[in-house]
Amino acid sequence: MHSDGPLVVAHRGSSFLLAEHTLAAYEKALTEGADGLECDVRLTRDGHLVCVHDRRLERVSNGRGAVSDRSLDDLHSLDFGGWKVDLPESADDLIAAARDRDYRQPIVDDDKIRDAQRRVLTFDRLLELFVDSSRRVQLYVETKHPTRWGGLVEQRLVASLRRFGLVPDRATPEVASSPVVVMSFSPMAVRRLRELAPSLPAVLLFDGLPRLYREGTLPFGATIAGPGVHVLRSRPRFAERIHAAGNQLYVWTVDEPEDMEFVMDLGANMIATNRPARLLSHLERV
Ligand code: G3P
Ligand code: CA
Repeated sequence: MHSDGPLVVAHRGSSFLLAEHTLAAYEKALTEGADGLECDVRLTRDGHLVCVHDRRLERVSNGRGAVSDRSLDDLHSLDFGGWKVDLPESADDLIAAARDRDYRQPIVDDDKIRDAQRRVLTFDRLLELFVDSSRRVQLYVETKHPTRWGGLVEQRLVASLRRFGLVPDRATPEVASSPVVVMSFSPMAVRRLRELAPSLPAVLLFDGLPRLYREGTLPFGATIAGPGVHVLRSRPRFAERIHAAGNQLYVWTVDEPEDMEFVMDLGANMIATNRPARLLSHLERV
């Protein structure tokens, strides 16, 4: 784990290059040297957690309708990478990188690697990759549609994390050494996550900045504020207040050099980016 400067969190994997939330995008982020992997989770109709950002399937796959109306078997029949996979160079990079790495179940042939770029990723499969990784990285998991299911997403999420031994008995002294960080835009979901897994640090995400939180204090035991970079552009003093209140700052989604400079100057503790290699190079870590 990198200890100086901000942590580089691969947003939906290395998702500028490869289809977001696919195994390939996460493998790529690991080979690029990201400190953390960001992932959104949703429930299928039959109660499985899958790594999909959108409520509906149209943008990210060749399917139609809501993710929550489909079973996991249904989702397995869809292509989650075809809209993006037109990148022969990056597929070659990926094949070379995968051959050099040590997997419990090695991906050795090109078809399987290409398949990894297209299949829906279950949260448990991501956890396998994460646990097997020879590099220590953190997982930043965000629950989506937290209100619709009345807490079921958070329960399933914490149950999976516990099954993989990823919920420590006690909170680690530093956020950076926690294996997992949980996140939501919903204060209620953050509260549920903190009740279910008090040892995991929690991020309250912001798309705007409600007056209630402008002084930098956070509810329900969240210790990390997660504004979008656009929120900080309009309220840069929020960063100071967060730090003055003893909290940390996680900023998303930072892909351009001027935004990287801006959030580094504000002392961001974690930066989520679709382009981990670019941010690492900007930080002069590669
Ligand atoms: O990492 C937080 C960020 O992902 C929140 O926005 O819409 O990309 O999930 P969104
Ligand atoms: Ca997210």
